[in-house]
Amino acid sequence: MSASSSDIVPFWLAGEAATSDRTFEVHHPHDGSLVAVVAEPTPEQTERAVAAAHAVRATAAATPAHVRAAALNYVADQLTARSEEVARLITAENGKPVKWARLEVARGISTFRWAAEEARRFSGELQRLDTDPSATGRIAVTRRFPRGAVLGISPFNFPLNLVAHKIAPAIAVGAPIILKPAPKTPLAALLLGEILAGTDLPAGSVSVLPVPNERAGDLVADPRLPVVSFTGSGPVGWSIKDAVPRKHVTLELGGNAAVVVCSDYPDLDWAATRIATFSNYQGGQSCIAVQRVLVARDRYHEFVPLLVDTVKAQVTGDPSDDKTDVGPLIDVAAAERVESWVDEAVGQGAELLTGGVRDNASYAPTVLAGVPADATVNREEVFGPVLTVTPFDTVDDAFALVNDSQFGLQAGVFTRDIQTAFAAQRVLEVGGVIVGDVPSYRADQMPYGGVKASGVGREGLRSAMTDYTEERVMVLTGVDL
Ligand code: SIN
Repeated sequence: MSASSSDIVPFWLAGEAATSDRTFEVHHPHDGSLVAVVAEPTPEQTERAVAAAHAVRATAAATPAHVRAAALNYVADQLTARSEEVARLITAENGKPVKWARLEVARGISTFRWAAEEARRFSGELQRLDTDPSATGRIAVTRRFPRGAVLGISPFNFPLNLVAHKIAPAIAVGAPIILKPAPKTPLAALLLGEILAGTDLPAGSVSVLPVPNERAGDLVADPRLPVVSFTGSGPVGWSIKDAVPRKHVTLELGGNAAVVVCSDYPDLDWAATRIATFSNYQGGQSCIAVQRVLVARDRYHEFVPLLVDTVKAQVTGDPSDDKTDVGPLIDVAAAERVESWVDEAVGQGAELLTGGVRDNASYAPTVLAGVPADATVNREEVFGPVLTVTPFDTVDDAFALVNDSQFGLQAGVFTRDIQTAFAAQRVLEVGGVIVGDVPSYRADQMPYGGVKASGVGREGLRSAMTDYTEERVMVLTGVDL
């Protein structure tokens, strides 16, 4: 395509803005309008970025903690100063309602601030070895060192904060990073690249390269990038792990998150509001959006009408409008897929309680009851604004239903019973259990990730810093302890 060079959004090669004679377009999911024309790195430019990241790894690792923390806080300050601009950019490229985009910016700021704090704390530990007579005077000093440069691959659903979760921990531990954003939503990542170019990090520490998906395999295979941190779809994630079994690979993949509404829970209005909100936030395009709602049978007939009313109250429409709760999905194909899965469930006997209507890339907030257990809307990740509701008789039955899934990312349990809470943590095959709220709750500093088909490894600043580094022990001898 042709566009004048002044209109083209550059990418960031080892901290420098760069363009090429290749470009691609970013379109607004709401109305299809052209948002930006973005420069695409050539294979030669990509090679330069990888070579720079590899070459700077020792320098980056030796950068003092105060320099890394200052860089991370600088990013947080810039995002704060430009927060409305960044939120509008996220809405334009992703279609996420601006109220949710603002929350994503706030989370992105918090992610960088936490990383600055963790960079200051990341120290190591001492272990005495004189517990054996032969080791008198010996002590072990264990510290973590970067495994090398990181390849971060981020998805479209959080164009800023899931990029922050790749880049911020890399800076915090002194690991260079090559970030490949999702082709549909590269703009917030490129803006981060621009902000990062204003830091004092060594050149080569960060490159933001919007290479097409077809060329990601070359980066994955590159031995100079020994860590791959991927967030996205299951098939792509597992193919990465299979392709490079000797690399350190972290996968944050999908889910079909369940929430359990127990008989003892006193505030059904709150539970309904939270479930309706977090099945529909950003059109349900979150790996931890509520999908399967399991309700104690003795509360089912009271709860379901409340839930349906609350879902109906979600405001749909133009995502740039402050009042809009639910905007479009990322593209028409995504909405058509959701439509076909809902239609399939209805064809299998499910009852449509509300929704079930598509308008281009938008799909109406939908609630289905009586859905067969093996229907696609129960078994797969919908990644759309669709809930299934199912009654259960005992908490054990509910937990078995939660676990009857290929996925295991997070689960929510509405209960006030402490035994049920601990049982949930013990029994549920997930990476996180949220008691008294939806599975969609995530604080950016806490460990976040899944089991089974939902992935391997954990994000969250401290967890990702552990992931990007490995332990190296030093034994000191002849020490008076
Ligand atoms: C995801 O979709 O995996 C990320 C959810 C979040 O960060 O809230």
